[in-house]
Amino acid sequence: MEKFYITTAITYTSSKPHIGNLYEMILCDAIARHKRLHGYDVLFQTGTDEHGEKIEQKASNASMSPQQYVDNIALVIKDLCDLMNISYDKFVRTTNKNHEEVVSKIFKKLYDQGDIYLGEYKGLYCVPCESFFTETQLVDGKCPDCGGEVKETCEEAYFFKLSNYSERLVKYFEENPNFVVPLSRKNEMFNNFIKPGLQDLCVSRTSFKWGVPVSFDDKHVIYVWIDALANYITNIGYNVDSVTPEFEKYWPADLQVVGKDIIRFHIIYWPIILMALGLPLPKKIYGHPWLLFQNDKMSKSKGNIMYPDDLVKLFGVDAVRYYCLSEIGFANDGNITYELIIDKYNSDLANTLGNLVNRTISMANKYFDGPVSYKEILDEYSKDLINKVNSLDSLVSKKMDELYVSEALDEIFNVLRRSNKYIDETTPWILAKDEAQREKLEGVIYNLLESIRVCALELSSFIPETSEKILKQLNTNNRESKFTEGVYEGMVGEPLFVRIDKEEKLKEIGA
Ligand code: MSP
Repeated sequence: MEKFYITTAITYTSSKPHIGNLYEMILCDAIARHKRLHGYDVLFQTGTDEHGEKIEQKASNASMSPQQYVDNIALVIKDLCDLMNISYDKFVRTTNKNHEEVVSKIFKKLYDQGDIYLGEYKGLYCVPCESFFTETQLVDGKCPDCGGEVKETCEEAYFFKLSNYSERLVKYFEENPNFVVPLSRKNEMFNNFIKPGLQDLCVSRTSFKWGVPVSFDDKHVIYVWIDALANYITNIGYNVDSVTPEFEKYWPADLQVVGKDIIRFHIIYWPIILMALGLPLPKKIYGHPWLLFQNDKMSKSKGNIMYPDDLVKLFGVDAVRYYCLSEIGFANDGNITYELIIDKYNSDLANTLGNLVNRTISMANKYFDGPVSYKEILDEYSKDLINKVNSLDSLVSKKMDELYVSEALDEIFNVLRRSNKYIDETTPWILAKDEAQREKLEGVIYNLLESIRVCALELSSFIPETSEKILKQLNTNNRESKFTEGVYEGMVGEPLFVRIDKEEKLKEIGA
């Protein structure tokens, strides 16, 4: 069985994550489920990033120890993953003892081999971003990333000589043109950071304690990004001077998915750390676009944050998964508002999918008090429908392999739309009035049931609960992802997505 190791970025435990953060888990979950469906031995890892000055401060403001604080939020994050049906195999926490030990050993190894040296840092420091800036990099005197205050800092610090590896990195990019997608993100990083020459990276801090201490100099804690990036290998058994069979089997990762804001860390620092450790690089890194609220960044200060659990209470898990997966494209940001969720819910889930399933099962039970079997019909509508059903699996796989996830979903909805049209074209209610058309009627209903079954199977990667419900309503164990000639019997129809009254719902939400 071919292996497939996929990772998400690990979420900060500074506060409860919003729907934008969970999007990444939902996206990776769809990819992981799709790979499993196609016979891969998948290892899917997500988790939490729990060290750093910001977390230390938040814990202190909440009169808690940092450990208590991160234990609480890590649990919230894990619960949200479970709520959203994220089928992760491993959940890593950077406060795991094993992770901390290996991070400490990694730092020591890099120091011993001369990649890390002790120096001094003078600069302007942003606490939430844990980053240093020069005067000219500031925007209106504030942090260029988050817009917050920066403070003047001068401290002894360890530095990583990134420049030792820049040539190798550039060569790797050239030899592996698909290493980073979308290409535009790689080019942007290349032009802004690599081409002008890589600066040495400051990799330790003395201004706070909540981190992995430098083993040979305990005034210092290890820079949170080295600690965080290492999660991808520590949690599958990398231990510097030894590795487990799990690590041997799954590393390098096949796909590492991260948001566009942290692509720099993943395509410059991370590959260089791996090179310095003598490890192979991941096969692909995908920097996905963002989910915006009314085309604006979600933030506490703007009061425009949407939380996954609130959305699930309003619309259900699969409606939220479907919204995120269909709205956010391969390279372009998506937008979220309550109105947009309701519109998509009504048009796609209630109309196109829900109605089709409900109408078809009702007709099957109304016209046939017993089994519905395959009957060959040779009209162009039927041939077209069957062709579309038969090519669906390969179309979906092609889009998923290219990471065009919203388009993969669209392929399935195209077949569902085609099936709805097939009902209008074949008019079963007219066929039902004519005893001579009984065979044809049975063939039409069978074709519809079979189309729904294959679509439901394909949907299992995206909206797994709904997929299961549909297959149960169809009363079938057939898991063949193409049109088959068989029999349906004992179907029970129940509404899947009840149409939402937009005005009522918006009133209920108070939006
Ligand atoms: N802890 C770091 C990642 C370390 S990985 C070694 C971090 N955490 S985060 O909690 O801020 O973000 C987690 C992920 O959510 C990141 O990939 C980030 O890009 C993503 N997103 C944050 N806001 C988002 C949206 N509004 N939309 C989509 N993804 C978003 O960064």
